[in-house]
Amino acid sequence: MPEAPSYFLSTPIYYVNAAPHLGTAYTTIMADVQARFRRLAGFDVKFLTGMDEHGQKVAEAADAHGLSPQAWCDSQVPHFKDLWEELEISYDDFIRTTEPRQTQAVQHLWEQMRESGYLYKGSYDGWYCVPDETFFTETQVAKAAEASGQVGAHLCPDCGRELTRVQEESWFFKLSAFQDRLLELYEQHPEFVQPSFRMNEVKSFVAGGLNDLSVSRNTFDWGIPVPFDPEHVTYVWFDALLNYMTAVGYGGTNAEDDAVLAHRWPAQVHLVGKDIIRFHCVIWPAMLMAIGAKLPEQVFAHGFLMVRNEETGKGEKMSKSRGNAIAPREVIEMLGVEGYRYYFMTDVVPGTDGAISFARMRQVYNADLANSWGNLISRSLNMSAKYFGGTSPVRPEHSSANPLAELAAGLYERYASKMANFAYGDAAAEVMELIHAANHYIEDSEPWTLAKDAARADELQAVIYNLLEAIRISAHLLSPFMPSTSLEALRRMSCEAEVGSKTLNELVLWGGFAGGMPVEKGEALFPRLDDEPRV
Ligand code: ME8
Ligand code: MG
Repeated sequence: MPEAPSYFLSTPIYYVNAAPHLGTAYTTIMADVQARFRRLAGFDVKFLTGMDEHGQKVAEAADAHGLSPQAWCDSQVPHFKDLWEELEISYDDFIRTTEPRQTQAVQHLWEQMRESGYLYKGSYDGWYCVPDETFFTETQVAKAAEASGQVGAHLCPDCGRELTRVQEESWFFKLSAFQDRLLELYEQHPEFVQPSFRMNEVKSFVAGGLNDLSVSRNTFDWGIPVPFDPEHVTYVWFDALLNYMTAVGYGGTNAEDDAVLAHRWPAQVHLVGKDIIRFHCVIWPAMLMAIGAKLPEQVFAHGFLMVRNEETGKGEKMSKSRGNAIAPREVIEMLGVEGYRYYFMTDVVPGTDGAISFARMRQVYNADLANSWGNLISRSLNMSAKYFGGTSPVRPEHSSANPLAELAAGLYERYASKMANFAYGDAAAEVMELIHAANHYIEDSEPWTLAKDAARADELQAVIYNLLEAIRISAHLLSPFMPSTSLEALRRMSCEAEVGSKTLNELVLWGGFAGGMPVEKGEALFPRLDDEPRV
């Protein structure tokens, strides 16, 4: 059998200083859906997530809590791991930048960089945004101040927060030397930055000219020491970006690490939010070019979650001070984990900024999950149990044309092409079409009438079989979004052993269900929510 192709995907490694929130969960679930889809489709998946633990911001937060930076990090990591477990995040590797493998890799990077000739020592004199861990030149700051009508202010051009003045000796990475090669990359590989409209921002940033990047700090010590200049610690982004390669063996010391690196690198996709696109689409490829490594195939940058203001209909930035911040806990309590995943992955378009609201969550949950998918399962399993003595009808010997089989033909191809491009809403809509058709099919074929007429037993058998087959196929296709409820639906019709037995395209072929097995109606998988607006 040919070896399964590797599919390596990552989320950003999140800063430990803030608790996980809807935004970090959004990226992480998006990656999880892709990882689950790819595993089912037969890829050899590595799904990486983790924590960004060094830098000035973390050092300051630790200090404010009266803890050592390491103790502070150790105390925060469980908040992420616990939430990821609850949200069914199936990561294969969780990297922390304070692990020995990362120190080893970063120090190897320093050595390779020094040999490459793209490093020099100088001094940095400019502005720094501690919350974003980003350097800004005097000109960038002045321009941003002018644009916002606050001439003379020193605010972060990205996040608007107060900047810090930094004057210190520093190692520099000759980022400016990579302008042409980066522009060439964007030209030759338009798929490198997705969605494609984000490419414009990246291109014009690079076309405007690049400054060399300060990549070490020497006024605090919470970071990985520069091996040949231990007074300096690595700039946190230089450290953080490398995590993607550390996790697949870069900087390792044995032959096995080399083999893993050769198998896994380059990554297929780095999933990130639009806030960190420059780091991933400009600095990271330049670093890789400098050390002669291959570039990741794609950076997919989604928009930001905004909270919909029900009065104005406009999206607003989520923040504690506006009082509109929503915690993952609140959504889990309302929709359940699977409803949460389904809503964010199918209703919030990953391209532009997406406005979310409790009213919309309730609407999508009720329409798609309670009234359509959940309802189809309970009605069909109930009728099957009732008319076939607690079992499913066996597969009819001669399958006759029916609207569900017609829709199922080619469904996998339509679904998979959308899944592969992170168009999750469109992929789920393909499945929902089958589910809606199945609910209509119940009304049109009236199994309760057929059941009263012994002469129509064959018809009844075909109708119930078709319904269960539509459920089986839908459950498999929806499982990347809702793994537990899909498995439960399959279990109730004695099909759970199918999972993993074949690749997804084979599993969802119409007629794969043999029937004649126990069925169990069970409790409603998606109890309806009442329509009252939340107060
Ligand atoms: O930037 N909507 O970490 P971070 C959607 N440590 N996604 C959001 C969001 C929102 N409102 N807010 C945050 C860092 N995110 C670095 C990364 S990677 C080598 C180092 C998500 O904790 C989104 O994925 O600030 C964004 O890019 C990320 O959280 C930033 O997480
Ligand atoms: Mg941030």
